[in-house]
Amino acid sequence: MTFQELIKDLQIPPLGLGTWKSARGDVYTAVKEALAIGYRHIDCAPAYENENEVGAAIAETIEAGAVARKDLWITSKLWNNAHAPEHVEPALQKTLADLKLEYLDLFLIHWPVAFRHDVGFPRRGEDYISLADLPTLATWRAMEACVEKGLVRHIGVCNFSVKKLAALHREAKIKPKMNQIEMHPYLQQNRMLDFCRENGILLTAYSPLGSGDRPKGMKKADEPILLQDPTILRIAARHGVQAGAILLAWALARGTVAIPKSINPERLRQNLSAVEVKLDAGDMLEIGGLDKGYRYLDGSFWQSAPGSPYTVADLWDK
Ligand code: A2P
Repeated sequence: MTFQELIKDLQIPPLGLGTWKSARGDVYTAVKEALAIGYRHIDCAPAYENENEVGAAIAETIEAGAVARKDLWITSKLWNNAHAPEHVEPALQKTLADLKLEYLDLFLIHWPVAFRHDVGFPRRGEDYISLADLPTLATWRAMEACVEKGLVRHIGVCNFSVKKLAALHREAKIKPKMNQIEMHPYLQQNRMLDFCRENGILLTAYSPLGSGDRPKGMKKADEPILLQDPTILRIAARHGVQAGAILLAWALARGTVAIPKSINPERLRQNLSAVEVKLDAGDMLEIGGLDKGYRYLDGSFWQSAPGSPYTVADLWDK
């Protein structure tokens, strides 16, 4: 199946709203505005510490009769401190309660990284559990049980390398439907695209705009600014749109799903209108030349605690 066929099969709206970094207060109005102007896909996670407000915005919109639950696609994720099989469903139930939903459309393992249950964000090596001690497959079996109970329609992962995804795909009874990864013209992930296409797995691009509002500690001083890339700006001028629309149109043209984050009404509209921008073969070729394998989110935060069993090299399996 092509990515386009998979998108049709799942009925996932290919352009969704990201909610990472959307502060409480801001996120409520952003989700209400997004739903009002036609967004039908919201990407959430308990780690973003705002699901309660996202849920309030969704619930009010449904109650007002502006949208039906069945026409929405809501994704959320399992945080790293709930990988033990007995913690998976309770974590999902908490997310469902916060989002005020009876089911999720998609439930993802947030990272191939596990913490002890009482740890929100690790500071010491002992805060982690290695994947050897808590294998992904054990977590996955509990995710499969959530599908069987009707609590989630589909399950998948985030931040998995080809190696990790292939291993999970081999062993899974219910196959992963999605890998949500960082993806944009500086990190095109072509090998991952090939693997996922061959195995009927969709991809969601997070940080499709280069995630300029990451906290300072997650930013390098000399990082390239995607929204100011001269090639992207030139193509944008040719189409008479902003750079963001080109980045999103590129993600959609490749058959991937994209979840740009915005809390600004004007940019929410701009991003949604990217579905109308049609890039031609020349544009795609030019953008294809921009790949530099550059990660804005390199995962080094999982190896920085002294004694952490995780390394960046193992994380991405290079
Ligand atoms: P804001 O929320 O004020 O709109 P990413 O989705 O890659 O994480 O990027 C999110 C960042 O990009 C946020 O700082 C967001 O700011 C900004 N942003 C969102 N949409 C656009 C756009 N169309 N053009 C420029 N910046 C944008």
